[in-house]
Amino acid sequence: MTAHDLPLLLDRGSTVPLAAQLAEALRRAILDGTLRHDEPLPSSRTLAASVRVSRGTVVAAYDQLAGEGYLLTRPGAATRILVHTPAAGESRPAHPDRMPPPAPAAPALIDLAPGHPSTRSLVDPAWTSAWRAAVAASGRSDSPPAAGTEQLRTAIAEHVRRARGLGCSPDDVVVTAGTSDALASLGLALGGTGRPAVAVEDPGYPAARRVLGRVGARIVPVPIGANGIDLSALAAVAPAPDAVLVTPSHQYPLGGSLSVQNRLDLLAWAGAAGAVVIEDDYDSEFRFDSMPLPALASLDATGRVALVGSFSKTLTPWIRCGYIVATGDLGREVRAVRLDLGPTVSGVQQLALARYLESGALARNITRMRREYAHRRGLVLDRLGALPGVRLDGLDGGLHAVVHVDPATGTTAADLVAAAAARGVLVASLADYAVAGRGQQGIVLGYGAPTDLDLSRALDVLADLLRSAQLPPSSRRNSVT
Ligand SMILES: Cc1ncc(COP(=O)(O)O)c(C=O)c1O
Repeated sequence: MTAHDLPLLLDRGSTVPLAAQLAEALRRAILDGTLRHDEPLPSSRTLAASVRVSRGTVVAAYDQLAGEGYLLTRPGAATRILVHTPAAGESRPAHPDRMPPPAPAAPALIDLAPGHPSTRSLVDPAWTSAWRAAVAASGRSDSPPAAGTEQLRTAIAEHVRRARGLGCSPDDVVVTAGTSDALASLGLALGGTGRPAVAVEDPGYPAARRVLGRVGARIVPVPIGANGIDLSALAAVAPAPDAVLVTPSHQYPLGGSLSVQNRLDLLAWAGAAGAVVIEDDYDSEFRFDSMPLPALASLDATGRVALVGSFSKTLTPWIRCGYIVATGDLGREVRAVRLDLGPTVSGVQQLALARYLESGALARNITRMRREYAHRRGLVLDRLGALPGVRLDGLDGGLHAVVHVDPATGTTAADLVAAAAARGVLVASLADYAVAGRGQQGIVLGYGAPTDLDLSRALDVLADLLRSAQLPPSSRRNSVT
Protein backbone atom coordinates (compact mmCIF):
# COMPACT_ATOMS: atom_id res chain seq x y z
CA MET A 1 0.00 0.00 0.00
CA THR A 2 1.30 3.48 -0.76
CA ALA A 3 0.54 6.71 1.03
CA HIS A 4 -1.74 7.64 -1.88
CA ASP A 5 -4.27 4.91 -1.18
CA LEU A 6 -3.90 4.68 2.59
CA PRO A 7 -7.34 4.97 4.26
CA LEU A 8 -6.88 7.89 6.66
CA LEU A 9 -9.97 8.05 8.82
CA LEU A 10 -10.41 11.29 10.72
CA ASP A 11 -13.00 11.83 13.41
CA ARG A 12 -14.43 15.26 12.78
CA GLY A 13 -16.48 15.20 16.00
CA SER A 14 -13.39 14.60 18.16
CA THR A 15 -11.77 17.26 20.33
CA VAL A 16 -8.37 16.08 19.04
CA PRO A 17 -7.27 18.54 16.32
CA LEU A 18 -7.38 17.15 12.78
CA ALA A 19 -3.64 17.76 12.30
CA ALA A 20 -2.88 15.63 15.39
CA GLN A 21 -5.24 12.89 14.17
CA LEU A 22 -3.63 12.91 10.74
CA ALA A 23 -0.13 12.81 12.26
CA GLU A 24 -1.15 9.88 14.48
CA ALA A 25 -2.66 7.95 11.55
CA LEU A 26 0.52 8.43 9.51
CA ARG A 27 2.75 7.62 12.50
CA ARG A 28 0.91 4.32 13.02
CA ALA A 29 1.10 3.45 9.34
CA ILE A 30 4.87 4.08 9.43
CA LEU A 31 5.45 2.18 12.67
CA ASP A 32 3.48 -0.88 11.59
CA GLY A 33 5.32 -1.00 8.27
CA THR A 34 2.34 -0.11 6.06
CA LEU A 35 4.31 2.88 4.80
CA ARG A 36 7.94 2.08 4.12
CA HIS A 37 11.30 3.83 4.28
CA ASP A 38 11.94 6.38 1.51
CA GLU A 39 8.39 6.23 0.21
CA PRO A 40 7.20 9.65 -0.99
CA LEU A 41 4.10 11.08 0.63
CA PRO A 42 1.51 12.94 -1.43
CA SER A 43 1.98 16.70 -1.66
CA SER A 44 0.17 18.60 1.08
CA ARG A 45 -2.29 19.90 -1.53
CA THR A 46 -3.13 16.40 -2.84
CA LEU A 47 -3.52 14.84 0.60
CA ALA A 48 -5.58 17.80 1.82
CA ALA A 49 -7.98 17.35 -1.11
CA SER A 50 -8.24 13.59 -0.64
CA VAL A 51 -8.97 13.62 3.12
CA ARG A 52 -10.93 16.89 2.90
CA VAL A 53 -8.92 19.02 5.32
CA SER A 54 -7.13 22.30 4.79
CA ARG A 55 -3.64 22.26 3.35
CA GLY A 56 -2.38 23.89 6.57
CA THR A 57 -3.61 20.85 8.53
CA VAL A 58 -1.53 18.52 6.35
CA VAL A 59 1.51 20.82 6.57
CA ALA A 60 1.19 20.88 10.39
CA ALA A 61 0.97 17.05 10.51
CA TYR A 62 3.99 16.66 8.20
CA ASP A 63 5.98 19.21 10.27
CA GLN A 64 5.13 17.38 13.47
CA LEU A 65 6.30 14.05 12.05
CA ALA A 66 9.42 15.64 10.56
CA GLY A 67 10.22 17.08 13.98
CA GLU A 68 9.82 13.63 15.52
CA GLY A 69 12.20 12.14 12.96
CA TYR A 70 9.67 10.09 10.94
CA LEU A 71 9.70 12.21 7.80
CA LEU A 72 12.23 14.15 5.80
CA THR A 73 10.84 17.38 4.41
CA ARG A 74 12.87 19.41 1.95
CA PRO A 75 11.81 22.50 0.07
CA GLY A 76 10.92 21.67 -3.54
CA ALA A 77 11.08 17.89 -3.04
CA ALA A 78 8.54 15.26 -2.02
CA THR A 79 8.26 14.56 1.70
CA ARG A 80 9.67 11.08 2.33
CA ILE A 81 9.60 8.53 5.10
CA LEU A 82 12.88 8.64 6.97
CA VAL A 83 12.65 5.69 9.35
CA HIS A 84 13.19 2.03 8.52
CA THR A 85 10.37 -0.17 9.79
CA PRO A 86 9.51 -3.87 9.60
CA ALA A 87 7.30 -4.87 6.64
CA ALA A 88 3.56 -4.91 7.29
CA GLY A 89 2.59 -8.26 8.78
CA GLU A 90 5.86 -8.67 10.69
CA SER A 91 5.24 -5.69 12.94
CA ARG A 92 5.64 -5.99 16.68
CA PRO A 93 2.52 -6.45 18.81
CA ALA A 94 0.98 -3.22 20.01
CA HIS A 95 1.33 -4.00 23.70
CA PRO A 96 4.53 -5.25 25.32
CA ASP A 97 2.53 -7.56 27.64
CA ARG A 98 1.61 -9.61 24.61
CA MET A 99 5.18 -9.87 23.36
CA PRO A 100 6.49 -13.28 22.41
CA PRO A 101 9.41 -14.55 24.51
CA PRO A 102 12.60 -12.67 23.68
CA ALA A 103 14.92 -14.03 21.02
CA PRO A 104 18.24 -15.14 22.53
CA ALA A 105 20.27 -12.50 20.66
CA ALA A 106 19.19 -9.17 19.20
CA PRO A 107 20.29 -8.51 15.59
CA ALA A 108 21.80 -5.06 16.10
CA LEU A 109 22.87 -2.96 19.06
CA ILE A 110 20.66 -0.08 20.06
CA ASP A 111 22.79 2.45 21.90
CA LEU A 112 20.90 4.26 24.66
CA ALA A 113 24.09 5.48 26.35
CA PRO A 114 23.25 8.97 27.62
CA GLY A 115 24.82 12.13 26.22
CA HIS A 116 24.00 11.73 22.54
CA PRO A 117 21.61 14.16 20.89
CA SER A 118 19.56 13.69 17.75
CA THR A 119 21.43 15.25 14.86
CA ARG A 120 18.82 14.54 12.18
CA SER A 121 17.75 18.16 11.97
CA LEU A 122 21.27 19.24 11.02
CA VAL A 123 20.29 18.13 7.51
CA ASP A 124 19.57 21.81 7.33
CA PRO A 125 20.50 24.18 4.50
CA ALA A 126 21.45 26.88 7.05
CA TRP A 127 24.10 24.57 8.56
CA THR A 128 25.63 23.66 5.20
CA SER A 129 25.60 27.21 3.93
CA ALA A 130 27.20 28.55 7.14
CA TRP A 131 30.07 26.08 6.66
CA ARG A 132 30.42 26.85 2.96
CA ALA A 133 30.80 30.56 3.73
CA ALA A 134 33.27 29.83 6.56
CA VAL A 135 35.47 27.70 4.34
CA ALA A 136 35.40 30.36 1.60
CA ALA A 137 36.71 32.91 4.13
CA SER A 138 39.36 30.61 5.62
CA GLY A 139 42.44 31.77 3.68
CA ARG A 140 43.87 33.80 6.55
CA SER A 141 47.39 33.82 7.89
CA ASP A 142 46.59 34.79 11.50
CA SER A 143 45.26 32.72 14.41
CA PRO A 144 41.82 33.30 15.92
CA PRO A 145 41.87 35.33 19.17
CA ALA A 146 42.45 33.20 22.30
CA ALA A 147 39.02 33.98 23.80
CA GLY A 148 37.21 33.48 20.46
CA THR A 149 36.27 35.71 17.55
CA GLU A 150 34.25 38.80 18.32
CA GLN A 151 31.57 37.71 15.86
CA LEU A 152 31.01 34.38 17.64
CA ARG A 153 31.22 35.91 21.13
CA THR A 154 28.58 38.44 20.08
CA ALA A 155 26.32 35.70 18.69
CA ILE A 156 26.77 33.63 21.86
CA ALA A 157 26.01 36.62 24.10
CA GLU A 158 22.77 37.09 22.15
CA HIS A 159 21.92 33.35 22.39
CA VAL A 160 22.56 33.35 26.14
CA ARG A 161 20.41 36.45 26.58
CA ARG A 162 17.51 35.01 24.61
CA ALA A 163 17.68 31.36 25.62
CA ARG A 164 18.97 31.68 29.20
CA GLY A 165 17.86 35.11 30.37
CA LEU A 166 21.43 36.22 31.09
CA GLY A 167 22.38 39.68 29.86
CA CYS A 168 26.11 39.78 29.16
CA SER A 169 28.60 41.56 26.97
CA PRO A 170 30.54 39.72 24.22
CA ASP A 171 33.64 40.62 26.29
CA ASP A 172 32.37 38.32 29.08
CA VAL A 173 32.24 35.34 26.71
CA VAL A 174 35.11 32.92 26.15
CA VAL A 175 34.72 30.38 23.34
CA THR A 176 35.79 26.86 24.36
CA ALA A 177 36.05 23.41 22.81
CA GLY A 178 33.02 22.20 24.79
CA THR A 179 32.39 21.83 28.51
CA SER A 180 35.47 19.74 29.21
CA ASP A 181 37.75 22.45 27.77
CA ALA A 182 35.80 25.11 29.72
CA LEU A 183 36.24 23.22 32.99
CA ALA A 184 39.95 22.76 32.37
CA SER A 185 40.35 26.54 31.89
CA LEU A 186 38.26 27.28 34.97
CA GLY A 187 40.21 24.77 37.07
CA LEU A 188 43.47 26.40 35.99
CA ALA A 189 42.07 29.88 36.62
CA LEU A 190 40.99 28.87 40.13
CA GLY A 191 44.25 27.12 40.92
CA GLY A 192 46.72 29.94 40.45
CA THR A 193 49.76 28.24 41.87
CA GLY A 194 47.88 26.02 44.34
CA ARG A 195 45.43 23.10 44.25
CA PRO A 196 41.83 24.36 44.36
CA ALA A 197 39.16 22.35 46.17
CA VAL A 198 36.11 21.97 43.94
CA ALA A 199 32.86 20.61 45.36
CA VAL A 200 30.89 18.50 42.88
CA GLU A 201 27.47 16.89 42.87
CA ASP A 202 27.39 13.19 43.79
CA PRO A 203 26.11 11.56 41.64
CA GLY A 204 27.29 13.90 38.93
CA TYR A 205 29.08 14.20 35.62
CA PRO A 206 32.14 11.88 35.71
CA ALA A 207 33.94 13.66 32.84
CA ALA A 208 33.84 16.91 34.84
CA ARG A 209 35.45 15.22 37.84
CA ARG A 210 38.14 13.72 35.63
CA VAL A 211 38.96 17.00 33.86
CA LEU A 212 39.07 19.03 37.07
CA GLY A 213 41.26 16.36 38.66
CA ARG A 214 43.63 16.47 35.68
CA VAL A 215 44.18 20.20 36.10
CA GLY A 216 45.03 19.74 39.76
CA ALA A 217 41.72 20.29 41.55
CA ARG A 218 40.87 18.35 44.69
CA ILE A 219 37.36 16.94 44.23
CA VAL A 220 34.94 17.20 47.17
CA PRO A 221 31.75 15.15 46.57
CA VAL A 222 28.52 16.60 47.97
CA PRO A 223 25.26 14.59 47.99
CA ILE A 224 22.16 15.46 46.00
CA GLY A 225 18.84 16.44 47.62
CA ALA A 226 15.41 16.31 46.00
CA ASN A 227 16.17 18.89 43.30
CA GLY A 228 19.90 19.30 43.10
CA ILE A 229 22.89 19.81 45.34
CA ASP A 230 22.19 19.44 49.08
CA LEU A 231 22.95 22.96 50.33
CA SER A 232 23.31 22.03 53.99
CA ALA A 233 25.81 19.33 53.07
CA LEU A 234 27.70 21.91 50.99
CA ALA A 235 27.68 24.42 53.84
CA ALA A 236 29.04 21.71 56.15
CA VAL A 237 32.17 21.19 54.04
CA ALA A 238 35.07 22.56 56.07
CA PRO A 239 37.15 24.32 55.08
CA ALA A 240 34.82 25.70 52.42
CA PRO A 241 35.86 24.70 48.89
CA ASP A 242 37.21 27.27 46.41
CA ALA A 243 34.42 26.46 43.97
CA VAL A 244 31.34 24.35 43.48
CA LEU A 245 30.24 22.81 40.19
CA VAL A 246 26.46 22.52 39.86
CA THR A 247 23.83 21.63 37.26
CA PRO A 248 21.04 23.80 38.70
CA SER A 249 18.69 23.65 35.70
CA HIS A 250 18.69 19.88 35.36
CA GLN A 251 20.74 17.91 37.85
CA TYR A 252 22.91 15.43 36.03
CA PRO A 253 21.92 12.63 35.98
CA LEU A 254 18.99 12.53 38.45
CA GLY A 255 17.02 15.52 37.10
CA GLY A 256 15.33 18.22 39.11
CA SER A 257 16.07 21.90 39.18
CA LEU A 258 17.14 24.15 42.05
CA SER A 259 14.33 26.48 43.14
CA VAL A 260 14.88 30.23 43.04
CA GLN A 261 15.22 30.20 46.84
CA ASN A 262 17.87 27.46 46.65
CA ARG A 263 19.70 29.47 44.00
CA LEU A 264 19.71 32.57 46.18
CA ASP A 265 20.90 30.49 49.14
CA LEU A 266 23.68 28.99 47.04
CA LEU A 267 24.82 32.47 45.98
CA ALA A 268 24.69 33.67 49.60
CA TRP A 269 26.82 30.69 50.65
CA ALA A 270 29.29 31.43 47.82
CA GLY A 271 29.52 35.08 48.90
CA ALA A 272 30.18 34.15 52.53
CA ALA A 273 32.66 31.41 51.63
CA GLY A 274 34.45 33.45 48.96
CA ALA A 275 33.76 30.58 46.56
CA VAL A 276 33.08 30.52 42.82
CA VAL A 277 29.99 28.79 41.43
CA ILE A 278 30.46 26.97 38.13
CA GLU A 279 27.06 26.54 36.49
CA ASP A 280 27.04 23.67 33.99
CA ASP A 281 24.07 24.58 31.82
CA TYR A 282 24.44 21.56 29.53
CA ASP A 283 20.86 20.82 28.39
CA SER A 284 18.72 23.57 29.83
CA GLU A 285 17.21 24.37 26.41
CA PHE A 286 15.18 21.15 26.61
CA ARG A 287 12.44 21.40 29.24
CA PHE A 288 9.09 19.67 28.87
CA ASP A 289 6.86 20.36 31.86
CA SER A 290 7.60 24.03 32.38
CA MET A 291 9.63 26.93 31.05
CA PRO A 292 13.28 26.66 32.12
CA LEU A 293 14.31 29.01 34.91
CA PRO A 294 16.79 31.61 33.71
CA ALA A 295 20.43 30.70 34.31
CA LEU A 296 21.60 30.87 37.93
CA ALA A 297 24.24 33.33 36.69
CA SER A 298 21.44 35.82 35.93
CA LEU A 299 20.84 36.20 39.70
CA ASP A 300 24.48 37.00 40.42
CA ALA A 301 25.62 40.60 40.65
CA THR A 302 29.01 39.87 42.17
CA GLY A 303 30.87 38.04 39.40
CA ARG A 304 31.02 34.80 41.41
CA VAL A 305 29.24 32.61 38.85
CA ALA A 306 30.81 31.23 35.70
CA LEU A 307 28.18 29.95 33.27
CA VAL A 308 29.41 27.05 31.16
CA GLY A 309 27.38 26.26 28.05
CA SER A 310 27.84 23.74 25.27
CA PHE A 311 26.59 23.20 21.73
CA SER A 312 27.01 19.45 22.22
CA LYS A 313 23.31 18.94 22.97
CA THR A 314 21.78 21.69 20.84
CA LEU A 315 23.89 20.86 17.76
CA THR A 316 26.30 17.96 18.02
CA PRO A 317 29.18 16.91 20.30
CA TRP A 318 31.14 16.33 17.08
CA ILE A 319 31.90 20.05 16.71
CA ARG A 320 33.37 20.40 20.22
CA CYS A 321 32.20 23.90 20.90
CA GLY A 322 30.93 25.68 23.97
CA TYR A 323 31.54 28.78 26.04
CA ILE A 324 32.18 30.32 29.44
CA VAL A 325 30.45 33.50 30.52
CA ALA A 326 32.44 35.05 33.38
CA THR A 327 32.81 38.63 34.59
CA GLY A 328 35.05 40.51 37.04
CA ASP A 329 38.24 38.96 38.46
CA LEU A 330 37.12 35.48 37.52
CA GLY A 331 36.58 36.54 33.90
CA ARG A 332 40.02 38.18 33.84
CA GLU A 333 41.69 35.03 35.25
CA VAL A 334 39.94 32.80 32.71
CA ARG A 335 41.00 35.07 29.81
CA ALA A 336 44.57 35.09 31.11
CA VAL A 337 44.58 31.27 31.12
CA ARG A 338 43.22 31.24 27.56
CA LEU A 339 45.91 33.67 26.40
CA ASP A 340 48.58 31.27 27.64
CA LEU A 341 46.90 28.14 26.29
CA GLY A 342 45.96 29.70 22.96
CA PRO A 343 42.74 29.25 20.99
CA THR A 344 41.23 25.75 21.11
CA VAL A 345 38.50 26.21 18.49
CA SER A 346 39.38 26.66 14.83
CA GLY A 347 38.57 29.98 13.18
CA VAL A 348 36.65 28.22 10.37
CA GLN A 349 34.38 26.58 12.88
CA GLN A 350 33.88 29.80 14.82
CA LEU A 351 32.84 31.62 11.66
CA ALA A 352 30.45 28.83 10.62
CA LEU A 353 28.86 28.69 14.06
CA ALA A 354 28.54 32.47 14.28
CA ARG A 355 26.73 32.55 10.92
CA TYR A 356 24.46 29.70 11.97
CA LEU A 357 23.54 31.45 15.23
CA GLU A 358 23.04 34.81 13.51
CA SER A 359 20.65 33.25 10.97
CA GLY A 360 18.30 32.18 13.78
CA ALA A 361 18.67 28.55 12.67
CA LEU A 362 19.88 27.33 16.09
CA ALA A 363 16.74 28.65 17.76
CA ARG A 364 14.60 26.91 15.11
CA ASN A 365 16.60 23.71 15.52
CA ILE A 366 16.10 23.77 19.28
CA THR A 367 12.32 24.16 18.83
CA ARG A 368 12.23 21.21 16.42
CA MET A 369 14.37 19.05 18.69
CA ARG A 370 12.36 19.93 21.77
CA ARG A 371 9.28 18.54 19.96
CA GLU A 372 11.16 15.43 18.93
CA TYR A 373 12.49 14.78 22.44
CA ALA A 374 9.12 15.47 24.06
CA HIS A 375 7.62 12.76 21.87
CA ARG A 376 10.37 10.27 22.76
CA ARG A 377 10.16 11.14 26.43
CA GLY A 378 6.44 10.25 26.09
CA LEU A 379 7.46 6.83 24.74
CA VAL A 380 9.72 6.28 27.78
CA LEU A 381 6.95 7.26 30.20
CA ASP A 382 4.43 5.17 28.32
CA ARG A 383 6.51 1.97 28.28
CA LEU A 384 8.30 2.16 31.63
CA GLY A 385 6.32 4.63 33.76
CA ALA A 386 3.53 2.27 34.82
CA LEU A 387 5.63 -0.81 35.60
CA PRO A 388 5.21 -1.91 39.22
CA GLY A 389 8.14 -1.02 41.49
CA VAL A 390 9.80 1.15 38.83
CA ARG A 391 10.53 4.80 39.55
CA LEU A 392 11.64 7.17 36.79
CA ASP A 393 13.70 10.32 37.31
CA GLY A 394 15.31 12.99 35.18
CA LEU A 395 12.43 13.30 32.70
CA ASP A 396 11.65 16.94 33.52
CA GLY A 397 14.09 17.96 30.81
CA GLY A 398 17.06 16.96 28.76
CA LEU A 399 17.43 13.77 26.82
CA HIS A 400 17.95 11.00 29.31
CA ALA A 401 16.00 9.20 32.03
CA VAL A 402 16.99 7.38 35.19
CA VAL A 403 15.20 4.12 36.03
CA HIS A 404 15.54 3.28 39.72
CA VAL A 405 15.71 -0.39 40.54
CA ASP A 406 13.99 -1.56 43.70
CA PRO A 407 16.77 -3.06 45.90
CA ALA A 408 14.20 -5.41 47.53
CA THR A 409 14.07 -7.42 44.30
CA GLY A 410 17.67 -8.51 44.72
CA THR A 411 18.37 -7.38 41.14
CA THR A 412 21.22 -4.93 40.82
CA ALA A 413 21.62 -2.26 38.16
CA ALA A 414 24.71 -4.13 36.97
CA ASP A 415 22.48 -7.21 36.36
CA LEU A 416 20.08 -5.12 34.32
CA VAL A 417 22.80 -3.39 32.31
CA ALA A 418 24.34 -6.79 31.48
CA ALA A 419 20.99 -8.41 30.66
CA ALA A 420 20.02 -5.47 28.42
CA ALA A 421 23.40 -5.64 26.63
CA ALA A 422 22.87 -9.37 26.07
CA ARG A 423 19.68 -8.43 24.24
CA GLY A 424 21.32 -5.71 22.20
CA VAL A 425 20.43 -2.63 24.27
CA LEU A 426 23.22 -0.50 25.74
CA VAL A 427 22.41 1.55 28.84
CA ALA A 428 24.56 2.93 31.66
CA SER A 429 24.50 2.16 35.37
CA LEU A 430 23.71 5.01 37.75
CA ALA A 431 26.62 3.83 39.91
CA ASP A 432 29.00 5.04 37.18
CA TYR A 433 27.97 8.64 37.97
CA ALA A 434 28.62 8.37 41.68
CA VAL A 435 31.87 8.92 43.50
CA ALA A 436 33.07 5.48 44.69
CA GLY A 437 31.10 4.05 47.57
CA ARG A 438 27.94 6.05 47.14
CA GLY A 439 26.33 4.10 44.29
CA GLN A 440 22.56 3.96 43.92
CA GLN A 441 20.82 1.15 42.04
CA GLY A 442 19.48 2.42 38.76
CA ILE A 443 20.08 2.62 35.05
CA VAL A 444 20.50 5.71 32.91
CA LEU A 445 19.19 5.69 29.37
CA GLY A 446 19.55 8.33 26.71
CA TYR A 447 16.63 8.78 24.35
CA GLY A 448 18.05 11.62 22.23
CA ALA A 449 19.88 9.83 19.47
CA PRO A 450 17.96 6.64 18.55
CA THR A 451 15.10 6.68 16.08
CA ASP A 452 11.61 6.27 17.52
CA LEU A 453 11.53 2.77 16.20
CA ASP A 454 14.82 1.72 17.81
CA LEU A 455 13.83 3.44 21.02
CA SER A 456 10.51 1.59 20.98
CA ARG A 457 12.26 -1.75 20.51
CA ALA A 458 14.79 -0.98 23.24
CA LEU A 459 12.05 0.08 25.67
CA ASP A 460 10.22 -3.19 25.04
CA VAL A 461 13.38 -5.07 26.01
CA LEU A 462 13.89 -2.94 29.14
CA ALA A 463 10.22 -3.24 30.16
CA ASP A 464 10.47 -6.99 29.85
CA LEU A 465 13.63 -7.10 32.00
CA LEU A 466 12.19 -4.74 34.60
CA ARG A 467 8.99 -6.76 34.84
CA SER A 468 11.06 -9.89 35.48
CA ALA A 469 13.16 -8.01 38.03
CA GLN A 470 10.07 -7.28 40.12
CA LEU A 471 9.36 -11.00 40.53
CA PRO A 472 10.79 -12.99 43.45
CA PRO A 473 14.15 -14.42 42.32
CA SER A 474 12.86 -18.04 42.13
CA SER A 475 10.08 -17.27 39.63
CA ARG A 476 12.09 -15.07 37.27
CA ARG A 477 12.36 -15.84 33.61
CA ASN A 478 15.81 -16.23 32.18
CA SER A 479 16.16 -12.58 31.23
CA VAL A 480 17.96 -11.13 34.25
CA THR A 481 21.16 -12.99 34.91
C1 LIG B 1 26.47 17.21 32.66
C2 LIG B 1 27.03 17.47 31.30
N1 LIG B 1 27.64 18.65 31.07
C3 LIG B 1 28.14 18.93 29.86
C4 LIG B 1 28.05 18.05 28.81
C5 LIG B 1 28.63 18.45 27.48
O1 LIG B 1 29.98 18.25 27.46
P1 LIG B 1 30.86 18.72 26.22
O2 LIG B 1 30.46 20.13 25.92
O3 LIG B 1 32.28 18.60 26.69
O4 LIG B 1 30.54 17.81 25.09
C6 LIG B 1 27.45 16.83 29.00
C7 LIG B 1 27.39 15.87 27.89
O5 LIG B 1 26.93 14.75 28.01
C8 LIG B 1 26.91 16.54 30.28
O6 LIG B 1 26.31 15.37 30.49
